[in-house]
Amino acid sequence: MHVPVLLQEVINYLQPQPNENFIDATIGEGGHTKAILEHNQPQGLVLGLERDQDLYAKLAPLKKQFSDRLILVNDSYAYLEEIVKQNNFFPIAGVLFDLGMCSWHIDESGRGFTYKKDEPLDMRFDQGEGLTAGDILNNWSVNDLERILRDYGEERYAFRIAQAIKEYRKKNRFVSTSQLVDLLKKTLPRNYDNHRLPFPARTFQALRIAVNDELRNLQKGLEQALKVAAPNARIVVISFHSLEDRIVKNVFRDAQKQNKVKILTKKPERPTPEEIKRNPRSASAKLRAVIKN
Ligand SMILES: C[S@@+](CC[C@H](N)C(=O)[O-])C[C@H]1O[C@@H](n2cnc3c(N)ncnc32)[C@H](O)[C@@H]1O
Repeated sequence: MHVPVLLQEVINYLQPQPNENFIDATIGEGGHTKAILEHNQPQGLVLGLERDQDLYAKLAPLKKQFSDRLILVNDSYAYLEEIVKQNNFFPIAGVLFDLGMCSWHIDESGRGFTYKKDEPLDMRFDQGEGLTAGDILNNWSVNDLERILRDYGEERYAFRIAQAIKEYRKKNRFVSTSQLVDLLKKTLPRNYDNHRLPFPARTFQALRIAVNDELRNLQKGLEQALKVAAPNARIVVISFHSLEDRIVKNVFRDAQKQNKVKILTKKPERPTPEEIKRNPRSASAKLRAVIKN
């Protein structure tokens, strides 16, 4: 079960009031949504988006519990504006983005999201479209591989890894995560990153971002959320790595410069040591929030 991150902080910043409507752009297993639905009763709604079909299917009991107060859409927040219009979901008092993957993706999906398990190299949230991580490793040019490792993984050994992938696939095809982990082990220095990060972490992050086009989608989703939200609506975003956080920070800063919003978090909110102890997955979380003018 996914433990919602920064739950109290999300509620503090969204401030859901009775009968207000909210969007949960990344409903996942519904932890944050459930808390919002408890605060905005009796008639407040939540429009929940989830890109992953399998996770979406798992939301049936939550839908049954909250019935007409929960509207679910199996699609990407990259199409937020269109989805809002299709559902005539106005006025919107707040939007939440809780980025990245759920615990379920790591623990149960079997799609290669973690270097800790030997699984097929898929990494797609939406299995109905797009390239898998294996497709990228087997087919992309060395330059493109180097670019995603550098830009999406902030990997200083991007060139070295891209070259190693090129050599490896002369004789092999990438099928499973363990092949990639073994190759990285042979390619990267033993004291990689002074042991601050496990050696496969940046490569796996880069592949996941590329497979799901996560950064471009985030930019689109945030801009559309700012557009569709009502005056005084709150937009809250939880990110889990510096690339995401940079996009959130820049979109919010630009919107404030244009007098569209006021930033509520001068510095991002971080989980308390108690939360990190309870839920280690929260350790890298950063929450930023704005209120629309
Ligand atoms: C960190 S989890 C959300 C957890 C949720 N807040 C909870 O409490 O259960 C992020 C979710 O966003 C989904 N997701 C990723 N990219 C998405 C996108 N572009 N549009 C909609 N959902 C997306 C993932 O499949 C994942 O389930």
